[in-house]
Amino acid sequence: MAKNEQTAENAQLKDIIAHAKEYGFVYPSSEIYDGLQAVYDFGPYGVELKNNLKRLWWETMTRLNDNIVGLDSAIFMHPTTWKASGHVDSFNDPMIDNKDSKKRYRADVLIEDKAAQYEKSGDQERAQNLLNAMARLLEAEDLTGVRELIINEGITCPLSGTTNWTEVRQFNLMFSTQVGSVAEDASTIYLRPETAQGIFVNFLNVQKTARMKVPFGIAQIGKAFRNEIVARQFIFRMREFEQMEMQFFVRPGSELDWYKQWAATRMQWHKALGIPEEKLRRHDHEKLAHYANAAMDIEFEFPFGFKEVEGIHSRTDFDLKSHQEYSKKKQQYFDPEINQNYIPYVIETSIGADRLFLMTMCNAYVHENVDGKERTYLKFHPAIAPVKAAILPLTKKDGLPEKGQEIINLLKYDFNIVYEDAASIGKRYTRQDLIGTPFCIAVDHQTLEDNTVTIRHRDTTEQERVAITDLHQRLSEACSFRRIFEKC
Ligand code: GAP
Repeated sequence: MAKNEQTAENAQLKDIIAHAKEYGFVYPSSEIYDGLQAVYDFGPYGVELKNNLKRLWWETMTRLNDNIVGLDSAIFMHPTTWKASGHVDSFNDPMIDNKDSKKRYRADVLIEDKAAQYEKSGDQERAQNLLNAMARLLEAEDLTGVRELIINEGITCPLSGTTNWTEVRQFNLMFSTQVGSVAEDASTIYLRPETAQGIFVNFLNVQKTARMKVPFGIAQIGKAFRNEIVARQFIFRMREFEQMEMQFFVRPGSELDWYKQWAATRMQWHKALGIPEEKLRRHDHEKLAHYANAAMDIEFEFPFGFKEVEGIHSRTDFDLKSHQEYSKKKQQYFDPEINQNYIPYVIETSIGADRLFLMTMCNAYVHENVDGKERTYLKFHPAIAPVKAAILPLTKKDGLPEKGQEIINLLKYDFNIVYEDAASIGKRYTRQDLIGTPFCIAVDHQTLEDNTVTIRHRDTTEQERVAITDLHQRLSEACSFRRIFEKC
């Protein structure tokens, strides 16, 4: 990408960040104290959008699949969980500090950024060689070699501009805290870095109490915490975030077929949500984690390039086997069809709710110039739009507000509706465009005569006359998850 193109892409992200703040979607956390890096709060429209996305995912998993059930496990877990999962020993990032700026970086990200520069300047081969060299060094845990690579490549600190680097060290990403009322009794526990382990340790509870038969899945939405050092790109990489994970338990030997199936199913879900095909791509992992026998990411083209939104991993029987070993409790399933006991293999689908939110915002953000007129709007799928319709009486008198209220009473039990009677109708349309409301319903004097209203459609700005008695049906058809489910 040429430098001016890159600047335009960054400008687009900046516009989206500014828009998200100004129109009540996302605020920096504790902003009055200058914020906290990589932590964000969701405003009135943000929380509606995020809840809709989470509900869509939840219902896709648990309603469209009669062999998937839900779970809500605690954030705190017995500390041995994280020993068994491998997070205590190997959930690390290689870090390096610049001695002049005192700023800390992820060593691999510095190298990846350098490779991206080569790629953008057209030198694919050099980019690939650099990435291969890094992969070899990291695999061999040769952190001295990683430092030398950074220095030999002339990678400088973006702040100080120098190559005055410290050694590279491994840095564990888990946050820890203490439980216990007196200091001597206190023991270290962790804020979970993924929700998946809550599913694994409850595998038998769920299987027995919900009488599930393999193959079956357990879905969960919840907070996860990682002490990310490279906090960039807005809500893309946060320290406190939400994951939506589903572990699908299958018979050993069938896992790669299921992996293929889930990879296709999840890709189709993103398309059904309205993400254009050319903005999505599949990235197969070449280097697999020690517990996986296949892994891929679904990537979306953010303003800062194609990046992971969701991971699909064939995790073998690693987690259950390890929990069996550490807990000394059998994690086996008796399969009546083949009359055998085994530890199931697992396919995981894992998506960040916040990353899905960012993808949705980036995809929805439209700034256009039509006949010399600038217009910005968020073209959310109506099913996930924070507000479904705005009721806008043309004036504040002649009984129009009361008529508007009648319409709200007809719709409010099923849809998130707002009412606005201040400012000109044009300004009110603009305001609804900016928060992505798909339908504006104008109440005018004709409404009092024939019980019809004007619906103005957000994306086309076209208007049509509709009977009030048809409104509920119209909104139901447009805003139902069914429209997305049918494409899944
Ligand atoms: N249980 C598997 C797992 O946690 P992961 O690739 O580390 O895998 C899965 O994370 C998903 O969680 C990612 O695809 C991303 O959407 C989201 N995610 C991970 N780290 C995140 C962070 N720091 N901020 C926001 N989302 C994150």
